[in-house]
Amino acid sequence: MPGLVVVGAQWGDEGKGKVVDLLAERSDAVIRFQGGNNAGHTIVRGDETYKLHLIPSGILHPGRPCVVGNGVVIDPRVLTEEVDGLRKRRVDLSGLRISANAHLIMPYHLLLDHAGEARLGGREIGTTKRGIGPCYADKAARLGIRVQDVLDEKILKQKITAALEPKRQALRDYAKDPLLDLHTMTEDYLAFGHRLEPFIADTPPIAWRALDEGKLVVFEGAQGTLLDIDHGTYPFVTSSNPVAGAACVGAGVGPKQIDEVWGVAKAYCTRVGAGPFPTELHDSAGERLQRAGGEFGTTTGRPRRCGWIDLVALRYAVRVNGLTGLVVTKLDVLTGIEPLRLATRYTGPEGAIFDEFPYHQSVLHRARGELIELPGWNEDITGARTLSELPPQARAYLDFIEDQIGVPVVMVGVGPARDQMIWTRASESIWPPAAG
Ligand code: IMP
Repeated sequence: MPGLVVVGAQWGDEGKGKVVDLLAERSDAVIRFQGGNNAGHTIVRGDETYKLHLIPSGILHPGRPCVVGNGVVIDPRVLTEEVDGLRKRRVDLSGLRISANAHLIMPYHLLLDHAGEARLGGREIGTTKRGIGPCYADKAARLGIRVQDVLDEKILKQKITAALEPKRQALRDYAKDPLLDLHTMTEDYLAFGHRLEPFIADTPPIAWRALDEGKLVVFEGAQGTLLDIDHGTYPFVTSSNPVAGAACVGAGVGPKQIDEVWGVAKAYCTRVGAGPFPTELHDSAGERLQRAGGEFGTTTGRPRRCGWIDLVALRYAVRVNGLTGLVVTKLDVLTGIEPLRLATRYTGPEGAIFDEFPYHQSVLHRARGELIELPGWNEDITGARTLSELPPQARAYLDFIEDQIGVPVVMVGVGPARDQMIWTRASESIWPPAAG
């Protein structure tokens, strides 16, 4: 099974980093294919906690090829800080490769992101303000600065000059901001180029070679299906495609190279930023999930909106990604909640019922999850390592999800540590856990 894509099946923050970290142990390369430092992964290793935004989680496995693919947008300030931070902690970076074709987030992208949100006022998207949208916009407008550009002063200056021209109007208020000085910007980015040069590479061949040899390549998605610019809750989305199809584009491989697609979903649901959320809780039950799940953003520290698991949205994620397996994370957070609720369909305006995820924004904004109840459990499940060690109610909860979405649950998270993961028989049949 050489090509495995891991994507978020909800609104991001599902715990993909930990899943990829575990899979990386058995893989020969990990390739991040979209997004930027709007993402954040927290990985717990013994007493050590690592917070990563751009570098794939696989980096903690010494020598493992870890690629920041062409589909990613890179803030070189953040990337160099991440490299320095890992170096200081003696993490082996010999496997790190950065696509020469990836686009760079420039200082004006950050300013545009702030300005754009300020302009929207009460209708703001709630972006992470990391310059993601403006950077992808420049990429599409063919005004982007790519990683390879920072290796050539003449080209870099020409491209920044061309990119800055149309921004003048939008950034009038920032005209005197030192961040916008062409000379300083060029110098800074050449310096980043110098520092990152050892890692810059033509990255698709890394995937091709590994796949040709039948090795396992993990394609790591960021954000989640419902934040996809095409398939998510537009305009309350990110500016890239977090769905599985984007792995091909953002890493440079063909669709036939992908064998498995695993979606990661929390046992409940969260969202940061604005936009529709049909199972959102506005009461103490939501606060409880927020508290028990530590639902505060890795990147921005913002509290996450919380709600019950949404099986309508999950069925949609199964279809748009072609999921072959579902990883359910943070099942332990539900311990002690009685009863548990799950949305199996939506009720919309005028009492309409929706079994499928509605495409129309006006419907979606007013849709509410119709909830069914299942009994909860009180036992501590954080020590369970097999499904049979879970209380019957927890197994019934997982069975119900499987039944509703038609895809097997392949892993179940029961706590933050690496070993607090159940590999189910469905995953073991394709993926035996390493001995010990
Ligand atoms: P942007 O990606 O910064 O432009 O933000 C657009 C929307 O995506 C906002 O609602 C963000 O909160 C959300 N978003 C972006 N990245 C993540 C993520 O990694 N996890 C969860 N939400 C995210």
